[in-house]
Amino acid sequence: MADFSATLQVLKELVPPALQNPRVGIICGSGLSGLAATLRQTVLVPYDRLPGFVQSTVPGHKSSLAFGLMGSGGGVPVIAMLGRFHPYEGHRLSSVVFPVRVMAKMGVNDIIITNAAGALNPELAVGTIVVVHDHIALPNLTGMNPLLGPQTNLSLPRFLPLSDAYSRLLRKLVFRAAHDLSIKRDALAEGTYAWVSGPTYETPAEGRFLRAAGADVVGMSTVPEVLAAREEGMNVLVLSLVTNAVVIPMDYRSVRDEFEAENTGMSATSVVDEVVSHEEVLALGKLKGDLMKTIVEKVIDLIPSD
Ligand code: 6GU
Repeated sequence: MADFSATLQVLKELVPPALQNPRVGIICGSGLSGLAATLRQTVLVPYDRLPGFVQSTVPGHKSSLAFGLMGSGGGVPVIAMLGRFHPYEGHRLSSVVFPVRVMAKMGVNDIIITNAAGALNPELAVGTIVVVHDHIALPNLTGMNPLLGPQTNLSLPRFLPLSDAYSRLLRKLVFRAAHDLSIKRDALAEGTYAWVSGPTYETPAEGRFLRAAGADVVGMSTVPEVLAAREEGMNVLVLSLVTNAVVIPMDYRSVRDEFEAENTGMSATSVVDEVVSHEEVLALGKLKGDLMKTIVEKVIDLIPSD
């Protein structure tokens, strides 16, 4: 089990007292680190100063913890991860969730996790923010679970229930926030997130499989952090920004038909397959980052203070 005392000691030295008891934790996904700009009295602590923190190696991810005040009035002290760790980078699941446990030890009650995701549900337009209400995590079902090993919180059950993993109260606050901000209704949706290990994007057959299983969006992050946060007793909110549609052709276009058409001199329709790219994911994050930021800020305003 990782040693938190060294990490907490460094934070005690680098973070001013007024920011040492963050109430809300935030994890910023691809292209969504702009959130830090809305913090006041911001103090950044690079991950390489923090024992137990590994380095984020994904382009578009920064590598710092940001402490600051967020929201109206005096503001709420928050701790934000600018850049997160993914199992596909080669990090152990215990390293991936280490910052979440640090947040818990600093007193964080509520955690807001954002990510970029592909849409499996054809009704979800690119740019939609999905309020996640459940997940499907094949890795968790088959032995890749960050809670494997000794229990870290003996006051919680060994067999942590996940039927209530995504706080109903926090989810509802998102819709209240959107209402208060006059955000148009179809900017937001609710759905189920499928976690895959990556780093490959899904094959069309895998996309159909996850859709058939009931997932609305798919991504390579978040679920490990959700499990650790629940084990630490936090309330969890997850917002997924749809950055692209996962192409799910209902059928494969037959290459035999295509060959035979070409071979008999008939014109073959050449179709270019859509291929998802990380650049596309980052660009959409930048485009919609402000909306995500505005919503998160408002939700933090609305979280009851006890
Ligand atoms: Cl299409 N798949 C996965 N696994 N993660 C994504 C994505 C797709 N788009 C953004 N993140």
